[in-house]
Amino acid sequence: MRIGVIGAGRLGGTLATWCAESGHEVAVTSRHPDRLQDLADRSGAQLRVMSVPQAAAFGDLLVFAPNWCSAREAVEVTRAELAGKVVIDTTNPDDRSGDGDAYHGTGAFSGGAGHDSGGKSGLETLIEWAPEAHWVKAFNTIPADVLSRRRGHDPLLAEFVCTDETDARTLASQIIRDLGFAPFYAGGAHAAWLTEPGGPLQKIEVDVADATDVLAEALATLH
Ligand SMILES: NC(=O)c1ccc[n+]([C@@H]2O[C@H](COP(=O)([O-])OP(=O)(O)OC[C@H]3O[C@@H](n4cnc5c(N)ncnc54)[C@H](OP(=O)(O)O)[C@@H]3O)[C@@H](O)[C@H]2O)c1
Repeated sequence: MRIGVIGAGRLGGTLATWCAESGHEVAVTSRHPDRLQDLADRSGAQLRVMSVPQAAAFGDLLVFAPNWCSAREAVEVTRAELAGKVVIDTTNPDDRSGDGDAYHGTGAFSGGAGHDSGGKSGLETLIEWAPEAHWVKAFNTIPADVLSRRRGHDPLLAEFVCTDETDARTLASQIIRDLGFAPFYAGGAHAAWLTEPGGPLQKIEVDVADATDVLAEALATLH
């Protein structure tokens, strides 16, 4: 598959490398393309550096991985290419929990939910900005170094997926499996906030066998 990775920083660059290793044709973006030369050299012909609009046009599937503060601009620049495409949103809007960068490791949520349930998740905000894309939330809960440690190892790490779009769920699940993780559907776009900063699924490491219980426990904390 052709995959365009919008924002090849710590997370996007890592996912791009793994997608290329898995045999996909990958385009990565930077507004300073020379900074990605090492990444391109390491990954060989499977990975190319392009401008943001070029990569959006190149990908049959897009991985959206800019910083949240740049997300709106990145959507505007790519918008002409988004219609009907599956876009995996890896971003985390600013933390509303006061929990900062705390990483909870394996196990259950340890408090700090600060979500205003009347507010929108980041995913819903992106859908509002570009409703013509088929958005799906994934790869946003776990730091890249933890993904690297857990990738492909038993027990497989659950990767939470939230979307309202059937094709987006299918494609994201396929990529998650290709990259050595286990997709776990956590709900539609309205459920994405569970996985975002302040939500009970953010920054916890969940083995796939435990994912049903952890999701149920996360939902129970809301009542
Ligand atoms: N790092 C992690 O472990 C991790 C884990 C889960 C989720 N996330 C989420 O993933 C997103 C990226 O995090 P990161 O740690 O990878 O950040 P990062 O290392 O700072 O990389 C951010 C990337 O965004 C690109 N960018 C900035 N402004 C842009 C714009 N206007 N249009 C297109 N691209 C733009 C930057 O490219 P330039 O070269 O053009 O500046 C850079 O490649 C964040 O939303 C974060 O919450 C990160």
